[in-house]
Amino acid sequence: MALIELQEVVKRFDERPVLAGVNLQVDEGDIKVVMGPSGCGKSTLLRCINRLIEPTSGSIRFRGQEITGPDVDLQALRQGIGFVFQQFALYRHLSVLDNVTLALRKLRGCKRAQAEARALHELDRLGLSAQRDQFPAQISGGQKQRVALARALAMDPAVVFFDEPTSALDPLMSREVASLINTLRRDKVTVLCVTHDLALAQEIAERVVFLDQGVVRAEDSIARLSRHDDDARIRDFFRREGPAS
Ligand SMILES: Nc1ncnc2c1ncn2[C@@H]1O[C@H](COP(=O)(O)OP(=O)(O)O)[C@@H](O)[C@H]1O
Ligand SMILES: [Mg+2]
Repeated sequence: MALIELQEVVKRFDERPVLAGVNLQVDEGDIKVVMGPSGCGKSTLLRCINRLIEPTSGSIRFRGQEITGPDVDLQALRQGIGFVFQQFALYRHLSVLDNVTLALRKLRGCKRAQAEARALHELDRLGLSAQRDQFPAQISGGQKQRVALARALAMDPAVVFFDEPTSALDPLMSREVASLINTLRRDKVTVLCVTHDLALAQEIAERVVFLDQGVVRAEDSIARLSRHDDDARIRDFFRREGPAS
């Protein structure tokens, strides 16, 4: 079933169209990867879907419901979408455990003990139990990202968004992101990931969506996109460091 469905989504900033009619579908259980050059609108796309940004026109359905109108319950929408931001967006003055329990307590109204039990379950599954009382400044980039993911998963979202999950990490840590996302696949978590990292895309998705000049230009395997006969922009993007064959 389609969990997210975008039809002809347009977003203009000062008349300049960044998204110029995007069509995209994310099904339940998908690990959907959207790639495209820097500035092509990947972050804008994610932010339109959770309404951090107002799309200019077009339709966005989430769990079958239109979410672009004025009467949308934004809090409910955002609770359905776990967002792992590029810079992780952890609270520096809160411990790892408190970063994960905060939304459970404030938004879900969970009691402390209940929130902590839920948080510890997620921290444990992501291998972070030992870091529960540390502060963001005391842990590595890869661990910060896993805390951000634990925080998202604790809210039991219908989908997790990743915005450039490898861009703030060193190359070694970047490789762990692929296995982390593949763990989510095993647990049937739906993921929408935007990235320009070909190595990551290759490890987590058989097919990728290519977003360029405001529209979805192709959806195919990276190998086929890198051999694209008709469109040099597609070919060149996927050949940068793409597969040898
Ligand atoms: N709030 C904003 N106001 C004006 N322009 C913006 C805003 N957010 C993004 N843009 C512009 O929209 C384009 C797409 O940005 P973005 O979605 O961040 O691209 P990507 O994530 O693919 O690198 C860029 O040219 C950027 O400068
Ligand atoms: Mg971006």
